[in-house]
Amino acid sequence: MPDIRIVLIAGARPNFMKIAPLMRVLSDDPAFDPILVHTGQHYDQNMSGQFFSDLRIPEPRYHLEAGGGSHAVQTAEIMKRIEPLLLAEKPRAVLVVGDVNSTVACALVAKKLGIEVIHAEAGLRSFDRSMPEEINRIVTDSISDLLLVTEESGRENLLREGVKESAIHLVGNLMIDSLRSHLDQALKSDIAQRIGMAGGKFGLVTLHRPANVDDPAQLAEITGALEAIGADLELYWPLHPRTQSRLKENGLVLSQRIHLIDPLGYMDFLWMQANASVILTDSGGVQEESTVLRVPCLTLRDNTERPVTITRGSNRLAGTRRETILTAWKDLLAHPITGEIPPLWDGKAGERCLAVLRRHFVG
Ligand code: UD1
Ligand code: UDP
Repeated sequence: MPDIRIVLIAGARPNFMKIAPLMRVLSDDPAFDPILVHTGQHYDQNMSGQFFSDLRIPEPRYHLEAGGGSHAVQTAEIMKRIEPLLLAEKPRAVLVVGDVNSTVACALVAKKLGIEVIHAEAGLRSFDRSMPEEINRIVTDSISDLLLVTEESGRENLLREGVKESAIHLVGNLMIDSLRSHLDQALKSDIAQRIGMAGGKFGLVTLHRPANVDDPAQLAEITGALEAIGADLELYWPLHPRTQSRLKENGLVLSQRIHLIDPLGYMDFLWMQANASVILTDSGGVQEESTVLRVPCLTLRDNTERPVTITRGSNRLAGTRRETILTAWKDLLAHPITGEIPPLWDGKAGERCLAVLRRHFVG
């Protein structure tokens, strides 16, 4: 009878790739009883359900169906719904991943119930407190008992913030475990036919940061740059629901060189990333995946909490103004980058997490 019960929290699209390898290693170890909870922060089939089938994640034991809303409403709703569940299940620990509202909401509730908190992808810092995710990271890390880190910068940030060294573990990148275990299959995807791609080179775009898409003038800056790049290279842009709404609200119409499509499932999107000539994004996870695929990535932001993707990888900051983005694009054409793969992004982060959890809980 397994005795170490751990509640794992998943809520939004980028959580699922990190949860999948953890569920696998914990389910395979008889010492652990992992309980998966879906908060329902993301709920559309193409933002949630599709990833459970693509990544073969077991059905969550509980679904909180918290849904959307303002930050306060969404965070509070998740907190209200997770508390009775944790009181009933009495887990030894709650494991949260990433930096979304589900992460901080469940960490706060667990800690105040006296339950240990484990944070996977701890320590990342953009040093930009206008980003909701930065607040979620700082708060979650400050109350976590075990901090599992993807890159050296995370360890340094946590030490600087006074976290004790024995709580910090550089384990590598869970998202890259999922990439490595699904890439071969993803490369067989027929997404190109399904979206009617003509063949030839293309660029891939994703955008969803509120700072980039919620302000119409800012969104127009970026689409202005995309139009100019689109003249050189056809672009495919799977639209996050937030961005889909903003484009519609603002009546922005783009040229036929920019193909707007629905959000893609994991396999299809991996195919697109692996085959793109360039990726333009403000996503955290996509910066990491493009680094491992060694596809040049222009990050449409002024900062990144994942600096190793720049110091080692194929990522470059392009800023968020039309001119800065086009300058970065021209630089990239003149000096193509493929970079190298950061240490421990080798597909074995799940196993290293398990080793840390065994040492901590089993001894
Ligand atoms: C959230 C995370 C962000 C992460 C992103 C990944 C927070 C604060 N933000 O941003 O860190 O990078 O997910 O994708 O946690 N919507 C749908 N269907 C869905 C999900 C959302 O239509 O399945 C729409 C809703 O109108 C919703 C809006 O998108 O209000 C925003 O969703 P929300 O989860 O609040 O934030 P994201 O922008 O998705
Ligand atoms: N992704 C996907 N389909 C898409 C866009 C992204 O499968 O249409 C995947 C991507 O490969 C990565 C994750 O979603 O694994 C990144 O999530 P997102 O960009 O939503 O969030 P962030 O990483 O910025 O928090």
